[in-house]
Amino acid sequence: MLNVFNMTNNGGLFLAQTAGFWLPDSATIDPAMDPVFYFILIICSVLFFLVVGTMAFFVVRYRRRPGRDAEKTISHSMLLETTWTVIPLIIVAVIFYEGFAAYMRMETAPPNCYDLRVTARQWSWLFTYPNGYSDENLHVPAGEPVRLTMTSEDVIHGLWIPAMRVKMDVVPGRYTSVWFQPDKPGTYNLLCTEYCGDEHSNMLATVVVQPREEFDAWLKNASDFLRTLPPVEAGRKLYLKHGCAQCHSADGTAGTGPTLKGIYGKTHEMTGGDKLLVDDNYIRESILDPQKKIKAGYQPVMSTYKGQISDAEITAVIEFIKSLK
Ligand code: CUA
Repeated sequence: MLNVFNMTNNGGLFLAQTAGFWLPDSATIDPAMDPVFYFILIICSVLFFLVVGTMAFFVVRYRRRPGRDAEKTISHSMLLETTWTVIPLIIVAVIFYEGFAAYMRMETAPPNCYDLRVTARQWSWLFTYPNGYSDENLHVPAGEPVRLTMTSEDVIHGLWIPAMRVKMDVVPGRYTSVWFQPDKPGTYNLLCTEYCGDEHSNMLATVVVQPREEFDAWLKNASDFLRTLPPVEAGRKLYLKHGCAQCHSADGTAGTGPTLKGIYGKTHEMTGGDKLLVDDNYIRESILDPQKKIKAGYQPVMSTYKGQISDAEITAVIEFIKSLK
């Protein structure tokens, strides 16, 4: 499957932003979690060195030596105990308040969001725009709040856009959502953060933030991909969009359905013993009336795509299948 997805998921994805010790540059208008994260990081670092440093000092200073009375016990100190109770109490109260406030801002999407649908599947992302067009990368207009409503077709995935400071599980059988407001045009990484099988670490996409006019122009052009893209590329898009990849691999791997690799022009043996040439008409019929002829060794489990796919689209899918040599 790898080669199919890598054709567009431009291998060098991590060039968009490089990893570092600190959080990646934020591209969102309200990186709510950043101050809380750094506050907790600093507090933890200070406490760590304070505790470990004091411990090391005491180990040396009060080590057992001849002539020292090890039995001597120290009574408690009211002042010390009050101090180390009250100060941490104030710190955790501040963490709770700041954390809760940031959480509420992250959870509450503004009413005027640009709404997109996200479908996760092993192992690719699909972003569906309000006009019905689906893309493997996420394009969003700059300066507007964006909400992603997400679901999965198979196992649990996790959507993570570090630059937008959003991360959320994508779960089969239910919807989850995140929102963010990108303010800096540019390209950013999108990753899957839930181990979802062999190609989990390749389940990547690019987030492209564009000014509104550029975004509109891109969407208009991309939506017209049957006319703008070469048929093989358009067919590959449809193959991914309609979820064909779930059952029909493009690399020869066996699945619920036969692989599409190298089948064009070959002769298939059907259930019942007939031999059939895999040509344009056979592929067309298999998409529109999949129960009619079943390849030997497979179950009749595919449902029809009648009404969901146009003739021009079928032609593109055929060209894509032809290209899988
Ligand atoms: Cu999808 Cu990991």
